[in-house]
Amino acid sequence: MREQYRSYALGTQPKWLSEYISSIDFDLYICEYVLDVLREHVKELRRQGYVSENSEMELIRAIDDFDCTARLKGYEDVHEAIEYFVSKLTNAGKWLNLGKSRNDQVATALRARNKEEILDAIDSIRILILEFLSKASAYEDVPFPTFTHFQHAQPTTFGHYLLSFAEELVDLIDGLKYAYEISDLCPYGSAAVAGSTVRLDRIRVCKNLKFKNVAFNTIYATTSRNFILVSLDSISQVTSVLLRFIEDMFLYSNPALNLVEVPSSHAGTSSIMPHKRNPATLEIARAELLKVYFIREYAYALLKGLPSGYALDLQQLSPVVWEAYRTFRRSVTVISDFVREVEIGDGIKDIWKYPLRAADLAEAISVSKGVPFRDAYATVARGLKEGKSVEELSKEVLGIELPDPITSRRNAGSPGNLDPIKRKVIERLRKIICETSARWNELI
Ligand code: ARG
Repeated sequence: MREQYRSYALGTQPKWLSEYISSIDFDLYICEYVLDVLREHVKELRRQGYVSENSEMELIRAIDDFDCTARLKGYEDVHEAIEYFVSKLTNAGKWLNLGKSRNDQVATALRARNKEEILDAIDSIRILILEFLSKASAYEDVPFPTFTHFQHAQPTTFGHYLLSFAEELVDLIDGLKYAYEISDLCPYGSAAVAGSTVRLDRIRVCKNLKFKNVAFNTIYATTSRNFILVSLDSISQVTSVLLRFIEDMFLYSNPALNLVEVPSSHAGTSSIMPHKRNPATLEIARAELLKVYFIREYAYALLKGLPSGYALDLQQLSPVVWEAYRTFRRSVTVISDFVREVEIGDGIKDIWKYPLRAADLAEAISVSKGVPFRDAYATVARGLKEGKSVEELSKEVLGIELPDPITSRRNAGSPGNLDPIKRKVIERLRKIICETSARWNELI
């Protein structure tokens, strides 16, 4: 049993209730960031003349010695554990809390960790986008059907289809960048809620903690967890794109269509049906990604109706938020690998069985014969109803075969031309990532 020292005036609670309110198990996730805050705080206390150079040295050494991976039990939270540990090593430990509270400390650590999570999320999306880009280049000219209402619609290429995800994802990265920016405002120096009477240079400490700026209003700084909502919103938006891709893969890989082949590394088998090749990893990813939505909902619900100023409810956000990021990143990694491995299926040979070019024919009749589009449309609709194919109708009405759907789209300047999409994706990716963090300048 540790000696009965409590940093705070507690000690009257039975163990089971103090365990009930403890965050020590999940404080592990922010422990290193808390230590960073404390180191900078101690330096500031010395600069302002509250503690001596010697105390500063002893305090920093004790903080450095704190082991975040050690099994910490019996503390209300990591803040208490550190103060206890430091105070055992040096008498100066009793100065540690001058001018700060756990409330500004935890809010600062959460924002610092959140920034890292956002960067990691952006990084995982960056890799996925690059996979989409390179697979799209490999399949740039391979015809592929599109669907509306999940009925055959118009022809395109597999490359065009894949780039739709690259472009949407790169647009959504802006949301993550905003989540980063709003997390980059530092609560340090706000104390419990209304600041303190101790002279501290918030801006200096916040800069040393690698924050862009200070969250000026101390009540805002200690109360708000909106940076978490914004972050969960932005990864939820990406999640919705991922879920759509996953759903497409289920449909396109169905043997009735066989437009894509589930890579064997991603396929599950059946214990009884020898022919099965189930899209197993994507099924898990579909289920896992839903946690992002649930956690986002939980965060909104938790923050609803909380008054200004810290409340312990806020602590309960911590473990689930990190879980959302972890789940998100793992799923993105699985999907990236799927995109790298996926190949086109044999069903691609049969796509012209469907009247994918019906609209192309109506357009060709309208443009080449000077017939209003609606009339040309009616001609094609009538012919199809009579059981004729688009190809037969083309010969019958136009006297020629329909031109190649891909070339005619490209000639018409339609976005079937992939180069501008690729350029946009690469340019934006590079810009966003360079602006967000120097950490990736060398990566793309
Ligand atoms: N453990 C808390 C958290 O993770 C910080 C402590 C704030 N407690 C308090 N009584 N003000 O948010």
